[in-house]
Amino acid sequence: MENISFFDGRKIPLERHKVRIVQKLKLIPVEERLVRIKEASSNLYLLHNKDIFLDMLTDSGVNAMSDRQQASMMRADDSYAGSESFYRLEKTVQDIFGMEHFLPAHQGRACEKVIADLLVKPGDIVPMNYPFTTSKAHIKRCGGEVVQLLIPEGLQCQSDHPFKGNFDTKALAKFLEENKDRVPFVRVEAGTNLIGGQPFSFANLKETAALCRKHDILLIMDASLFQDNLYFLKTRDDECKDLSLREITRAVADQCDIIYFSARKLGFARGGGICMRESELVNPLKELIVLNEGFLTYGGMSVREIEAIAVGLEETMDLSVTSQGPEFIAYMVDELEKRSIPVVTPAGGLGCHLDALRFVPHIPQEQYPAAALAAALYIAGGIRGMERGTLGESRDAYGNETIADMELLRLAMPRRVFTLSQIDYAIDRVTWLYENRDLIGGLRFKREPKILRSFIGELTTLSDWQEKLAEKFSRDLPNSL
Ligand code: F0G
Repeated sequence: MENISFFDGRKIPLERHKVRIVQKLKLIPVEERLVRIKEASSNLYLLHNKDIFLDMLTDSGVNAMSDRQQASMMRADDSYAGSESFYRLEKTVQDIFGMEHFLPAHQGRACEKVIADLLVKPGDIVPMNYPFTTSKAHIKRCGGEVVQLLIPEGLQCQSDHPFKGNFDTKALAKFLEENKDRVPFVRVEAGTNLIGGQPFSFANLKETAALCRKHDILLIMDASLFQDNLYFLKTRDDECKDLSLREITRAVADQCDIIYFSARKLGFARGGGICMRESELVNPLKELIVLNEGFLTYGGMSVREIEAIAVGLEETMDLSVTSQGPEFIAYMVDELEKRSIPVVTPAGGLGCHLDALRFVPHIPQEQYPAAALAAALYIAGGIRGMERGTLGESRDAYGNETIADMELLRLAMPRRVFTLSQIDYAIDRVTWLYENRDLIGGLRFKREPKILRSFIGELTTLSDWQEKLAEKFSRDLPNSL
C-alpha cells in the first residue's frame, strides 16, 4: 500500500476513491440459486446478471469509470472520419508508449485477428510466454500453431517467484535457433492471464527482446493486463522501483515492436487498439482495420468510449489508481491462504485464483473440476467466477480432451467496483465451500461446441451433488440467504 499504514498494524487495502454512483445488487436465496444454475446448464455465462450477487467473472468492460472519464464522454466528437476524440486518444497513446502509430479496434481480439491475418501463414509457429484463448484461436485459424515457453515456476500454483509470467529465455533462444524461419513474431503477454495474472520482469523482457532482435523477429506485446504488470514492476522489480509508472511504461514499450491491448481492461472502458512504430506493416494493417473494424479514426468504438479510454490510460499512470486491483487481490489471497485454502501465489493481477486441482482433488480433469467449483460457488454465495481449465480448451483432432496445465477458478476483481465487505463475504463463502468440498461433484457436456466451448457449452451434473450442496448450505446457515 502506497505510504499509508494502519496504526494498529492491520494490512487492509485502502480505497483511494469515493463511490458516487451505485447500482443495487440482489442476493437471491440459495433454493433459487439452485434453480438458476440448473436452468443455465451449470455454465455461468448463461446466467442472467440479475441473479448474480457478486459478478467476479471478469474485469473486462466492467471496471468502474472515474468522474473524469464520465465527464470526458460528454465532449465526444461524433464523426465517421477525423473525430477529435480519436486524435486525443492517439496523442495519449503516443505519449504513453512512445510509438508513432495507433490503429483503433473494437476490442482486444479484433487486434489479434488483424495481426494474425497479416502475419501468420500455415505452418508458422508463434512462441509465447503463455497463450491467451483468443490469441491462440486466431493464430490457429490462420493455419499457425503456438508454442508455450514459460518458466517452469509459472505453472506451479504455489510459489514465491515474483515473476511467474517470465519467458523461459533459454528455451526461446533454442527454439528461435532451430525454427526462426517459421516464426512470424514472438508474443509476450503482460500480466499473464491464464496462469493467474502473473507478471514478467523487466530483465526478462529485455532478454526476450534481445533474442528477437538477434533473429530479426518482431516482438509483440499483448498489453491488455499491462496495468497489473506495471504495478508489479514498480513494487517487485529492483530495476524499476525508482522509476515512475510512466517511465517504466516507456522503458517496456521501447523493447517492443508492436503493442496491442483490450481497452476493456487497460484504460477502464471498452475498445482496443494497436500501437506500432513506422514500418512496412503499418499500411497493410490499416487496410485490415478499415475492412474489419471501421474507419481509422474509430475502429468500431463509440467516440464516447474513445474519450474515456484516453482519460483511463492517463489514470493508469497514477499508482494510487493502478494499485487498487492488485491490493484487493492480495488481501483476498492472503485471507484464503490463512485458512489453508489452495490459491495461486504469489497474488497476481486480474483476480484471486482458486486452485481446483487441490480444492476438489476427487474430481478428474475430464469432469471439469474448475467448472464444477464455479457452479458450486454460485450455489454457495451467488458469486460468479470464471473457469480457467480443461473446459476452456478444445478437443484435439482425434476428439480427445486437451487436459489443461492448470484448473483454476478465477474470481476477477473489476477495478474499483467492490467494497472490502463484499470481498470478505466472498472469502467467507469460499471458506464454507472448502469445508464442504467433498460434496462437490463433476460435470459432463450435454451440448458441446467445437471451439471456445466454455462460453456457450451446456453441461449437466454427474449426480445430485448440487441439490445436496444447497441443502447443506440451508442447514449450516438457516437464517441467511
Ligand atoms: N488478451 C488478453 C491477455 C486478455 O485477457 C483478453 C481478454 C484479450 C486479449 C481479448 O480481449 O476480450 O477485449 O477481445 N480477456 C477477457 C477475460 C475476456 O475475461 O480475461 P477482448
